[in-house]
Amino acid sequence: MKVFSGSSNKPLAESIAEHLSLPLSPVEIFIFPDGERRIRLEVPVLDEDVVIVQPTNPPTDTHYFELFLLADAAKRSGAKSVTAVVPYLGYQRQDHIFRDGEAVSLNVIVNTMQSVKIDKVISFDLHTIKIPEIFSIPMVHQSALSLFVEEIKKQGWDGLDTVLVSPDMGGIRRIELISQMLRDMPYATIDKNRDVTTGKIDMTSVTGEVTHRALIVDDMISSGGTIVKAAKLLREKGAKEIYVFVTHPVFSADASTILQDSVVDKVYVTDSVFVPEEKKFPKLEILSLAPMIAEQLK
Ligand code: R5P
Repeated sequence: MKVFSGSSNKPLAESIAEHLSLPLSPVEIFIFPDGERRIRLEVPVLDEDVVIVQPTNPPTDTHYFELFLLADAAKRSGAKSVTAVVPYLGYQRQDHIFRDGEAVSLNVIVNTMQSVKIDKVISFDLHTIKIPEIFSIPMVHQSALSLFVEEIKKQGWDGLDTVLVSPDMGGIRRIELISQMLRDMPYATIDKNRDVTTGKIDMTSVTGEVTHRALIVDDMISSGGTIVKAAKLLREKGAKEIYVFVTHPVFSADASTILQDSVVDKVYVTDSVFVPEEKKFPKLEILSLAPMIAEQLK
């Protein structure tokens, strides 16, 4: 097996390779002055199982295209199989037509993956459980919930006076799952409405009892608006401690600043997306997916 990394999350690729007791294989990614990329695998891969680690967070299109070129290079060089480790799958929220005239962007991604002969995709905490069904190639859908459960137990937050919270109805399955993993910990759900054209979020009520400590669980933080608004509402409803567990730290715009300035006590995320130093903030804790991914690849 040979493990390669695109440019989106080399530390995660290095850590996965380390857990597999393999070196990270070198790849040349040359960027021409006009922005085009030239990709070259610097070691032979004939008859090898090739793993490409490339979460497709912003710049999403660039990261996807690098992944496609890496897969093409591997297959042209005789790789036996190509597994794309894409812990964060860009375009996953565009998995169906919301309004007439729209593209199904995720479908375009899947078709392109297939045409560059990616054999398998490994991804984490997809926006809906229906997404793997869109894939015409095998898709392994893993979850960071067990990592979060471990941390919740380590912090002693699995006792009384704690409620799990989904910041929207769409996260109900996720919250039910983690509740079961925590011996049926009570959960609540927030009614969230997002204007499809302006993106403005509106949150007014919580279904379920809000206790002393609230643990908000979600799949991703993009602008940070969902978490900040949910935490504010939970504080108004009486929560004294608010912790956040989110798989994908996409952190677009000024997400880091608004999260640090919010009423949230701590934000736990994973390394599914690389967080550069300038986007880190004191309330942030990063848990690693590398051991789980390596286990899946073995
Ligand atoms: C939405 O349904 C998702 O589960 C997330 O809550 C959402 O995508 C987070 O986006 P933002 O951080 O921009 O509010």
